[in-house]
Amino acid sequence: MTVPTAARTVPVEPVAPAEPADQAVPGTPAAPARRPGADLDETIRRDPGAHRVLTGDRPTGPLHLGHYFGTLQNRVRLQRLGVEMFVVVADYQVITDRDIADRLAEHSENLVLDYLAAGLDPDRATIFAHSAVPALNQLLLPFLSLVSVAELGRNPTVKDEIAHSSQSAVNGLMFTYPVHQAADILFCKANVVPVGQDQLPHLEVARTVARRFNERYPHPDGTGVFPRPEALLSAAPLLLGTDGGKMSKSRGNAVRLSADADTTARLIRGAKTDPDRRITYDPAARPEVSSLVLLAALCQDRAPELVADEIGDGGAAVLKRTVTEAVNEHFGPMRARRAELAADRGYIRQVLREGAERANVVAEATLAEVRAVMGSV
Ligand code: TRP
Repeated sequence: MTVPTAARTVPVEPVAPAEPADQAVPGTPAAPARRPGADLDETIRRDPGAHRVLTGDRPTGPLHLGHYFGTLQNRVRLQRLGVEMFVVVADYQVITDRDIADRLAEHSENLVLDYLAAGLDPDRATIFAHSAVPALNQLLLPFLSLVSVAELGRNPTVKDEIAHSSQSAVNGLMFTYPVHQAADILFCKANVVPVGQDQLPHLEVARTVARRFNERYPHPDGTGVFPRPEALLSAAPLLLGTDGGKMSKSRGNAVRLSADADTTARLIRGAKTDPDRRITYDPAARPEVSSLVLLAALCQDRAPELVADEIGDGGAAVLKRTVTEAVNEHFGPMRARRAELAADRGYIRQVLREGAERANVVAEATLAEVRAVMGSV
């Protein structure tokens, strides 16, 4: 097996039974016609200029290696292909499952630092925060009218988040943030959204909102205002945390992108393994050992089986040394760049300010179109 790096299209389940076929929307970067089931990633590579990507993260804490190999690396790859990219620092999404967005400015700036260190280029990618783009947020109002309360309550990702929330009561934003996320995607008429599996229900909301808006408020020339965005599901490798659970910001089991070499060594030394000396790559039978093997393989851009074979009977000690060296080597330059950028908070704020300026122009143009087709003044 080789390390999966590409991404594939996901056939998204229609919400309504009678789903009309996607329409190309003139004046938007709609995806060119393609045979059903054709690989979206391949289509993007053939014509990067016809695609616009929107993606983003909640500013709740530092990004870790799982984020890097799961999404950041893919964003940088898309950027290098020449795809136009919008990246939202989803600050209004933080308060879905907590009362206070703690240290919001700090987390937002650190998120931008992680982005830039990983290789996102603010000259090519528009990086902005929700709260700095009023016209984006205003789209939420007409969009909410297009979705039923029953549909909001059925969203499996929202249900899961409610189940894991420590809040005593579920607030209204928890049920409606997927519609707000539709505004994130549609304000800039993105047609490609790189997502993990858990975000697919949200993408479906965006597709539904786009379709219903276009049906309810047709353009005089017969087209719709919004394109139907497609999911680019990254074949993201599942990296486990040092305790063998899913690597997660909140579980304290993650190696941060910004960790230094010594911290990385200490965390990996403490990672869970198993007593079998022979190192193999067998994710089903040996998840912890295999995740470490995979991490080294991802850093070295080679097949995990090869890494495991090389370690052979070296046991956990050699495995951990190999992983530590691989991580520190791969992330060394990124960490150096991050430290350099971190010394200039003014620059980071400027990136967010300029991103917001560009996003505002786009959002205001879209809102003007929305007002026009709705017959507002
Ligand atoms: N919900 C996403 C997350 O929790 C973050 C996000 C906000 C997002 N807006 C988005 C992702 C739009 C993709 C597209 O990670």
